[in-house]
Amino acid sequence: MASENQKKANPNIPANIVMSGIRPTGMVHLGNYFGAIRNYVKMQDDFECFFMIADLHSLTTHPDTSLLKSNVRRVLAENIACGLNPDKATFYCQSHVYETGELYLYLNMLAYKGELEKTVTFKDKARQHPENINAGLLTYPVLQTADIIMHRATHVPVGKDQEQHLEMARNFVVRFNHRYGEIFPEPHAFNYNQNLIKVPGLDGSGKMSKSENNMSTLYFADDDDTIRKKVMKAKTDSGPTEMNSTKPDYIENIFLLMKLVSAEDVIQHYESAFNNCTIRYGDMKKQLAEDMIQFVAPIRQKATDLLENDAYLLEVMGKGAQKARESAKKTMKLVREAMGLNYF
Ligand code: TRP
Repeated sequence: MASENQKKANPNIPANIVMSGIRPTGMVHLGNYFGAIRNYVKMQDDFECFFMIADLHSLTTHPDTSLLKSNVRRVLAENIACGLNPDKATFYCQSHVYETGELYLYLNMLAYKGELEKTVTFKDKARQHPENINAGLLTYPVLQTADIIMHRATHVPVGKDQEQHLEMARNFVVRFNHRYGEIFPEPHAFNYNQNLIKVPGLDGSGKMSKSENNMSTLYFADDDDTIRKKVMKAKTDSGPTEMNSTKPDYIENIFLLMKLVSAEDVIQHYESAFNNCTIRYGDMKKQLAEDMIQFVAPIRQKATDLLENDAYLLEVMGKGAQKARESAKKTMKLVREAMGLNYF
């Protein structure tokens, strides 16, 4: 593993620090949970972890900050409700770590315009919002690198869509280390060697995501009836006519969702019913909806309780900021020394 090599190359580099960022631009949904949060919850016990709400990154596409405060609180509450434990991991807000701005500035001098312009996420966002192609959008991967290396993290639990950003982070790290001395380990995507679970949307195409259509995504904030309504609307057909046939994608998706929340015997029952052509998708969806509700309701309740306890959320944010800044201050001291910016 790269982190092992790094450890051998430089004993001053700490091993196995996990860092990831969560964009506060939407409500937490099942795709977030099974694709990311569930892994974070496991990592808290195995590694030193930094989980950050990327509020500054959201300014690159959402310059209006009027909803930011409540979005940040919701993301905080929903992630804690899903099992993220602020006593185990450092859970903090990006904008509270002022050192990030400084490291971002230094890294910007090592990032080339050409490589930034080639970034797929930049090109996508520039295409979507031609009226707001700001420099923050262009340097988004530089800010993300600052987040990661601020804690000298090695393991970054992210999905495929972030792989290019991580590759850029490694390039910036290599350049920094080459120019100023070995300060930073190279960060890599990390998900317990598992393929990430893709949670399919309910409309039979694509995955659950906040930017897609709301009816196909199940949010932890959805009430029981909304969950029932969304699940019952999922696309099906009149059922297979031949024994043991292959499932069409939209049916496979319903089975996939069931595997996330239903008991093994329930899944087996519908697998056999599909294979011997007796399946009734209406019944299956009713069952799925109820199992989904069983899964979502306690988390939703916990998030609601947390959102009503503003003092607690503020305390979590305050403690997280303090822990994150302690780590950041240590790193920035090393950085300024390495760069020769220590004039006193
Ligand atoms: N860019 C990430 C996303 O879109 C969010 C993010 C910000 C992040 N800073 C990070 C992810 C640092 C991992 C590490 O989801």
